Amino acid sequence: MASLLVHPQTTPLRGRVTVPGDKSISHRAVMLGAIAQGTSHVSRWLPAGDPLATLQAIQSLGVPIHITETEPTAWDLVIEGQGMRGLKPGGAVGREPLATGESSSALSPQPSALSPHTLNLRHAGTGIRLLAGLMAGQNFATVLDGSEQLRKRPMRRIVTPLRQMGANISDTDGRAPLTILPAPLHGIELPMNVASAQVKSAVLLAALYAEGETRILEAGPSRDHTERLLVAMGADVTRQDDTVILRPGYDLQAVDLIVPADMSSAAFLLVAAAGVPHSHITITHVGLNETRTGLLDILTQMGAVTEIANAHLTGGEPVGDLTIRFNELHSTDIGGSLVVRAIDEMPIWAVAASQSAGVSTVRDASELRVKEVDRIAVLAGELRKMGVVITEQADGFSVTGPTRLNGAEVDSHDDHRLGMSLAVAALLADSPTLIHQADCVADSFPGFVETMQALGANMTWVENESRES
Ligand code: S3P
Repeated sequence: MASLLVHPQTTPLRGRVTVPGDKSISHRAVMLGAIAQGTSHVSRWLPAGDPLATLQAIQSLGVPIHITETEPTAWDLVIEGQGMRGLKPGGAVGREPLATGESSSALSPQPSALSPHTLNLRHAGTGIRLLAGLMAGQNFATVLDGSEQLRKRPMRRIVTPLRQMGANISDTDGRAPLTILPAPLHGIELPMNVASAQVKSAVLLAALYAEGETRILEAGPSRDHTERLLVAMGADVTRQDDTVILRPGYDLQAVDLIVPADMSSAAFLLVAAAGVPHSHITITHVGLNETRTGLLDILTQMGAVTEIANAHLTGGEPVGDLTIRFNELHSTDIGGSLVVRAIDEMPIWAVAASQSAGVSTVRDASELRVKEVDRIAVLAGELRKMGVVITEQADGFSVTGPTRLNGAEVDSHDDHRLGMSLAVAALLADSPTLIHQADCVADSFPGFVETMQALGANMTWVENESRES
């Protein structure tokens, strides 16, 4: 596992860059392309640790996926859809994704339909939860598992509604591994008690295989990429206020899709430019789906100057070129739906808050405690080492600023978003910072360091021990 050495930023960040494709959409494109009729073409797909785990799982289910590595951080995929009933029992545990041009028929012979086979989703929470919904509808058995980190994350939130639909799914004390056996599914009415796109999407994927319609009453505006992609593929998915309705009983059609750049990756660059004096950067082709733009609204509220150009739609998703300039920031309080729309951006927002005048507070964010790590406790612990004045609450935290940060030795705790937040904080420090376990940044943002370097940041890798997968 490598550490990242980050030097204080003494010059403005400048430039026009893009960031890799959206992680949420990349997971969904592979899963839905697999069960479509026909061949889907997906460009600017994200070859990061998390979606690669999903890609490998899908390949092992007998879905040929042809890969062209257009760029190291953007792949073109051709997915040969197998239709709703075309997946085959798979589970090539620990197998690396197939190489460019290699076909998944190269996998070992298919095992008996009744013996459960394990798919290893490694660190991918989206991968395991969405696949649980998809696999609940198959007529063969599967076990879904992952890394030690993934095995700590709560799974009852998907197991309970899937069981209500008739799924034969069992967990391990509420966590992975999950064992899924074939069972007939029926539609349900689900009032959600947590604003989670992973739960909503798991239920929607199972609902494609159910008898009768499914209605999901959302607890907050969670990301709607599954609904948008399903509609683009011909599914009957509608929304009435906060309720998503799926009526099953058709085939999905293949799609051609350009994956927008990930707003959640752009977020690190946005906060870096907002915090380093005289910076001025543009990030192109960024996904601007309003279920994902909470951080933009929050930064604007804090005095940041942003601009969107070239706004258009691709594959049902709004995108545009996003420019941000440095400006003095002031504190703000956030909660409710704004937090849902920026849930993955809360660690980097804490860094922005440390540079803002006054006390900033986030509430209604207890979901942060069940991400890759407890993103309230671990974030507070690491940022404090750099001089951030941060206090924890049960469902959020407060940060007092502005603070001149100090360089320190910190740790990502193998959480990609925490690692990148610490790297941005380090640019604002008065001496170098060493971030341990930093190569996890590639779980969502391969090329993070190169992109920051292109903008003028001074950060370099320092190699050491190897990582658990
Ligand atoms: C995701 C949903 C969110 C988000 C995660 C990706 C998705 O999780 O935090 O990074 O792709 O559906 P929850 O659904 O658990 O809020």
